[in-house]
Amino acid sequence: MEYIIFAVIAYLLGSIPSGLIVGKIGYNIDIREHGSGNLGGTNTFRVLGIKAGIIVTLADILKGTLATLIPLFAEADVYRLAIGIFAVIGHTYPLFAKFKGGKAVATSGGIILGVSPILFIIMILTFLLSLYISKYVSLSSMITGVVAVIASVFLGNIGLIIVTAALTLFVIYRHTANIKRIINKTEPKIKWM
Ligand code: G3P
Repeated sequence: MEYIIFAVIAYLLGSIPSGLIVGKIGYNIDIREHGSGNLGGTNTFRVLGIKAGIIVTLADILKGTLATLIPLFAEADVYRLAIGIFAVIGHTYPLFAKFKGGKAVATSGGIILGVSPILFIIMILTFLLSLYISKYVSLSSMITGVVAVIASVFLGNIGLIIVTAALTLFVIYRHTANIKRIINKTEPKIKWM
């Protein structure tokens, strides 16, 4: 029963549509009607600029991290990760934004931060290196997921291995349109790195 309550709270937390809130309040723009149409940090950067992009990305990470802290006294990583996953589901299919949300990247990173800051740092470095080389945010997000699974194996944390593997598959699924655009060479590259 306790798990269900925590999962619902995590889902509602993840459902807070930071990209929509920042876009509407700060700029009177629904970012889902611009750029890639995605309700995430990358599209916020693209449509509204660096300040809004950073705010939304940090807010989306924070949703995941806070969700893993809901079971305040839980020791087991796997339990806190299992709660955090519901924040990712909320972020991707938000109750407060007609179930049309983001691609699960930042909030997934947030739940990893809540359980394994070392793995989170590995993921940030992987993401930045991939982005520097490829200039594709979407590809870098997927590569980061794959590296997170491999790093979890080296860390020997079974909960992290299962959750990073599941989230990486989900992130890749959410990037289906990006993958098609990368193959067709129509995926936009970042210009500032
Ligand atoms: O975090 C989502 C990112 O990997 C891709 O976003 O807007 O380019 O589809 P977007």
